[in-house]
Amino acid sequence: MEEKQTEDTLFGVAPEIKEKIGDLYQKITKYRRDSTMGSGLDWANQPETYKIYQNPLFVIDLPHPDKEGGENLFKLIQKRRSIREYSPKTVSLKNLSQLLWATQGITENFQGYAFRAAPSAGALYPIETYLIVNNVESLDRGIYHYRIPAHQLEFIKSGDFRKEIAQAALEQKMAFCAASVFVWTALVERSKWKYRQRGYRYMYLDAGHIAGNLALAVESLGLACCNIGALFDDEINDLLAIDGEEETVIYLSTVGYPR
Ligand SMILES: Cc1cc2nc3c(=O)[nH]c(=O)nc-3n(C[C@H](O)[C@H](O)[C@H](O)COP(=O)(O)O)c2cc1C
Repeated sequence: MEEKQTEDTLFGVAPEIKEKIGDLYQKITKYRRDSTMGSGLDWANQPETYKIYQNPLFVIDLPHPDKEGGENLFKLIQKRRSIREYSPKTVSLKNLSQLLWATQGITENFQGYAFRAAPSAGALYPIETYLIVNNVESLDRGIYHYRIPAHQLEFIKSGDFRKEIAQAALEQKMAFCAASVFVWTALVERSKWKYRQRGYRYMYLDAGHIAGNLALAVESLGLACCNIGALFDDEINDLLAIDGEEETVIYLSTVGYPR
């Protein structure tokens, strides 16, 4: 049986290394003019671009996103604030659809690439979106996954997971009260396939772009959100039934009407 990893036994990494693992990562993954950058791409083994659940409980078609409306961008930037308290008002499916499109939706097909609302290093799109749904029109409570190419939601787990997600977010109450919590994971091989260890930099940057789009889209719809980086990774990985290695949680954002 695999040994339970604790602070002291963490993968056999010496404490002096652990103390500066971030510093080392930053140094080791630098691009330098004097070092070669790898040996080309293994096209035969490029990872899949999309995660599709083959047997979800069911699949929901999302309303078509509005690509015309919205407030003036600079006003939205001026107004945007992290909001941590939400009203019990239900979020419409139309608005949820708008948020999913604004974060990860496909906006253009060009030369074999399906480009999305947010940029991604190498157009590799390692980030997946899950939703913990608490209070969204016509959606049962539970866990959903965004099926990007079809702009659909896959219902993967039914139930009330407010307590679990709040506990996993270091007991932050906003995750309990939100109409929905966006959970962003990375399928790490999508990025490592090209960038090796440096790919981790890009996964986090990609997630930041996605969350940035969410924050402005939320503001435009009169909703509110707050990002969460303080989380117990493996509690969320377990909740989503992902392994925490090939696919791991990166970031959360709580969404709802402001109180
Ligand atoms: C990477 C990241 C992680 C964050 N994690 C949390 C968090 O765990 N809990 C929280 O209350 N706010 C979190 N925030 C929100 C910040 O506290 C907030 O952005 C900051 O106070 C600035 O306020 P503003 O967003 O209203 O401009 C996070 C923000 C970022 C960008």
